[in-house]
Order: sequence, then C-alpha cells, then structure tokens
Amino acid sequence: MILVGPMGVGKSTVGELLAARLGAAFRDTDKDIVDTSGKPISEIFIDEGEPHFRALEREAVRRALAEHPGVLALGGGAILAEETRELLRCLPVVFLEMGLTEAVKRVGLDAPRPLLAVNPRQQWRKLMDERRPLYAGVARAVVSTEHRTPDEVVDEILEVL
Ligand code: S3P
Repeated sequence: MILVGPMGVGKSTVGELLAARLGAAFRDTDKDIVDTSGKPISEIFIDEGEPHFRALEREAVRRALAEHPGVLALGGGAILAEETRELLRCLPVVFLEMGLTEAVKRVGLDAPRPLLAVNPRQQWRKLMDERRPLYAGVARAVVSTEHRTPDEVVDEILEVL
C-alpha cells in the first residue's frame, strides 16, 4: 500500500500505524534519501538544489517500489515525476489530504520545509493547485486526515481499499 499527499498530512504517522495493523513493514522515501545521502533534505535542497533532490527521489521511489512489498510513504513532491506516476499505476495508492488552514497549522509547527519557507499560505495554495490533480490521478482512494486520529484514518483506509 502506498501513501501519497502533501507534506505534513501524516503519511509517516499513518503509514507506521497502517503497517503495524497489517503486520507489514513501513518505509518512507524521504528517510531513504536521508540515509543514503547522509544529510537532511533541507540541506540537499540548499547544497545541490531541487532538481538534484528530485533525481534522488525518483531513484528512491523506483528502488522502494521494487524492493518493498509493505506500506510505503512517498515525499509530497514525488508525484511530480511522470516516471513515478507511471510506476504507481495499478498499485493500491491512497491520497491523504487536508485543508489549507490545517496544513499551515501542521506544517508551521513541524520541521523546516524548504518549499514553504517564505509565505507558507500562498506557497501551499500554489503547490496544491498543481499537485492535487496528480495525487488524485494516481490514487484509488482519497482519505482526509483532518479532525480524526491517525487510528481513525487507518480504519478508513482499510475500509475503502
Ligand atoms: C516535499 C515534501 C517533503 C520532502 C521535501 C519536498 C515536497 O516530504 O520530500 O521537503 O515537494 O512536497 P514530506 O511530504 O514527507 O514532508
């Protein structure tokens, strides 16, 4: 099972729980990239730039999909790559979503996000206008993480898939 959706929506939290409920392993492409490159994502963005990060991300997704049969969370921008969207076709993909107010609240409190460093509200709108159709295009189901506990989100994923 593969979780896609914007940063801060809860892919890692929900993914870990979902994996535990299924008795499966959990993997996260952001973490794979950090482990392989030995530095945080924000530093990869600063030192090497976003295109380099996206290339690492495509490779991390390709590898994880080939190696990992459990629950997989993809970084929020992974679906920007056509190659990745193509690989996701016919796989059980869930799009986790939330509204703008919730997003700004969650992302603002979380670790620094290079893409939302300046004017987060406006950046978020722009990102989501571009990405929502891409998430929806690869997903079999859309599940909101707003006003629910991670356990309730897992219940719904198991119901709809
Ligand atoms: C990004 C989302 C982040 C991380 C990077 C870029 C994006 O992942 O890959 O900061 O483009 O939306 P999470 O969605 O896991 O936070």
